[in-house]
Amino acid sequence: MEVVVKGTYEEMSCLAAQVVAGIVCRKPRAVLGLATGSTPLGTYKELIRMHKVEKLDFSQVVTFNLDEYVGLPEDNDQSYHYFMRENFFKHINVVRANIHIPDGNAEDLEEACAMYEIEIEEFGGIDVQILGIGSNGHIAFNEPGSSLGSRTRIKTLDERTRRDNARFFKSIAEVPKYCVTMGIGTILEARKIILLANGAGKAEAIKAAIEGPISASVPASAVQLHPDVLVIVDKAAAARLEREYPSEPHRLVR
Ligand code: F6R
Repeated sequence: MEVVVKGTYEEMSCLAAQVVAGIVCRKPRAVLGLATGSTPLGTYKELIRMHKVEKLDFSQVVTFNLDEYVGLPEDNDQSYHYFMRENFFKHINVVRANIHIPDGNAEDLEEACAMYEIEIEEFGGIDVQILGIGSNGHIAFNEPGSSLGSRTRIKTLDERTRRDNARFFKSIAEVPKYCVTMGIGTILEARKIILLANGAGKAEAIKAAIEGPISASVPASAVQLHPDVLVIVDKAAAARLEREYPSEPHRLVR
């Protein structure tokens, strides 16, 4: 596991975007695993800039998002479909048919989850998976206690996560109680993982995830099992780390 500590959120985001762009340049039909939330917004912003200014081409890229709420219409401004469209997809030349986001409104959610796994496989697996981390250590919506071998499935959201995400809704009562999420086992099959965290609110979770024991109580600690993980954090999120980490990766673009 490679850990890099950047001074600012912008530097963290630029490095993540550079690594993703390197993969897309080398493999135009790269399969990107994408996250929502505040953390990757800077990465998407930089990738959009690269598309507009440097002509980074997403025309063959395939995407799979980590998760979606159950029961929110796709055009609800809190759905992850809406988030991805507004914050990334509509600004780049990704083809709509290549975009995959779990369907939280499927009639048969279990079947839709199984199909999602099959689709990932049919596209040859995920080349690079971007992850944020919850303040409780979750990745995607794999809350503490999730099996490290879990696959895409329906989950009940942790109360802490509902409270964290209530900032985006009118009240906590409006935050959905269920979601569909890739499992930890699904995530660990990506060929590369980039775990991002910024801000003091993530310091405890990052310490537990990368310096603590691997445990289902801290789902993000499962990335320690993966052979190619790049963790990029800003200074505030690194504040509780005990080991020393560099500010640059060994090799810049992989
Ligand atoms: C979202 C996701 C979540 C977030 C996490 C952090 O697709 O998978 O695990 O990455 O909740 O959210 P932010 O970035 O808003 O702090």
